[in-house]
Amino acid sequence: MAVHVIDHPLIQHKLSIIRDVNTGAKEFRELLEEVSMLMAYEFTRNFPLEEVEVETPVATANCKVVSGKKVAIIPILRAGLGMVGGILKLIPTAKVGHIGVYRDPETLQPIEYYCKLPPDLSERELILLDPMLATGGSAVAGIQFLKQRGATQIRMVNLIAAPEGIENVQAKHPDVDIYVAAVDDRLNSHGYIIPGLGDAGDRLFGTK
Ligand code: PRP
Ligand code: URA
Repeated sequence: MAVHVIDHPLIQHKLSIIRDVNTGAKEFRELLEEVSMLMAYEFTRNFPLEEVEVETPVATANCKVVSGKKVAIIPILRAGLGMVGGILKLIPTAKVGHIGVYRDPETLQPIEYYCKLPPDLSERELILLDPMLATGGSAVAGIQFLKQRGATQIRMVNLIAAPEGIENVQAKHPDVDIYVAAVDDRLNSHGYIIPGLGDAGDRLFGTK
């Protein structure tokens, strides 16, 4: 399926501040939430609509409302948590599931430590959230967990992706559309995205 690079000027402007090493945790958190909200505006663009009639104070109007599957958003812990609030602002009725995965710093392999998901996954449009798509190991594992539990329709939303991560996800899960604000140059030898923004979880939560 497709990779959608969402290059809206406001997203690009805010992403530049997010990347800056001098941006502290408070501003990083606020901007990640804002960018996630703006990305939700774009990744919902092809959501199906249905016709409804609405009684205005003066007449009947032929209107449209969003139809189709209900939405669940699934942040990959920890850093994906920083995207939840912004998306809920636009899709306030979405259910929220959580997948805990961390990347072993030596092997770069994803380790699952938590999983709590809505029960009706097969009936929902799932939005998997993680600011960083580096090797793609965490994303591939997260998508696999969702599919094992019945998911059939998954979109992945990342702030920054490395070409290597996109290739990995597309090879293992070609049915998953990827929405990203920027595709960076490459990974370094520690699996960090270059130029990237550093460690998203640490910057979001002020840890190190
Ligand atoms: C980061 C990031 C992704 C993962 C990306 O999480 O938030 O989940 O790395 O790397 P990958 O594509 O190579 O798997 P990390 O493992 O540092 O955990 P954290 O969010 O708890 O800090
Ligand atoms: N995880 C991050 O938080 N940043 C990277 O650059 C790569 C993985």
